[in-house]
Amino acid sequence: MSVHISAKPGDIAKNVLMPGDPLRAKYIADNYLKDVKLVSSVRNIFFFTGSYKDKELTVGASGMGCPSIGIYSWELFTEYEVDSIIRIGTCGAYTKKLKLFDLINTDTACSESTYAECDFGWKKDQFKHQGKAYDIINETAKELQLEVKTGSIHSGDVFYRQEKGKPEIVKKYKCLAAEMEAFALFANARFLKKTAASLLTVSDIIPTHEKISADEREKALKPMIELALEAVVKM
Ligand code: HPA
Repeated sequence: MSVHISAKPGDIAKNVLMPGDPLRAKYIADNYLKDVKLVSSVRNIFFFTGSYKDKELTVGASGMGCPSIGIYSWELFTEYEVDSIIRIGTCGAYTKKLKLFDLINTDTACSESTYAECDFGWKKDQFKHQGKAYDIINETAKELQLEVKTGSIHSGDVFYRQEKGKPEIVKKYKCLAAEMEAFALFANARFLKKTAASLLTVSDIIPTHEKISADEREKALKPMIELALEAVVKM
């Protein structure tokens, strides 16, 4: 048991899929995994271990923001010997060139967050994906004939931002979209020499305020979930 995960040692697989929302973890377990076991439910952050096409994997939520994913990914990497975490989440596009439902495989996560400086003393505002998962996702997408964009994204600390215009860091690194977690996940994985990727579905377009509706969400996230599962099979 770790502080925030009650699974027994050995109950968590080497490969983890990590949505933000615990109910999305449950949806994936219910609809895609065989021989599923609920291995932790501390704070209702459910972790399920099962298999997909005979590959063992765990799906569990990160919660929202760098501090939250920082805790869960750290405990998974250090206390459960997890090798790889693929975040699967939504993002808001900064550019009208992206459309709702587009998929982004995150090359680099950029942030104003002090997470990496406070934790590791790293005064850095960007981290690349770590290890082989990113390439496997791109190759798998080609095989499935799914279009996946790649590039930098912004892991912001603020969802309800009141300042007008794009944040400076978004202009500096030409970030395609905003989300709130990949920076801490990539920093932890870099420090611990683990694998981490972040696959995102565009759920809103920031300049036009277009959004995927609540009804469309389940259908909208299917290609991302299926791509991530197929990628895990190859890990
Ligand atoms: N900002 C931050 N995170 C998000 C967004 C957004 O616009 N959309 C989905 N996740």
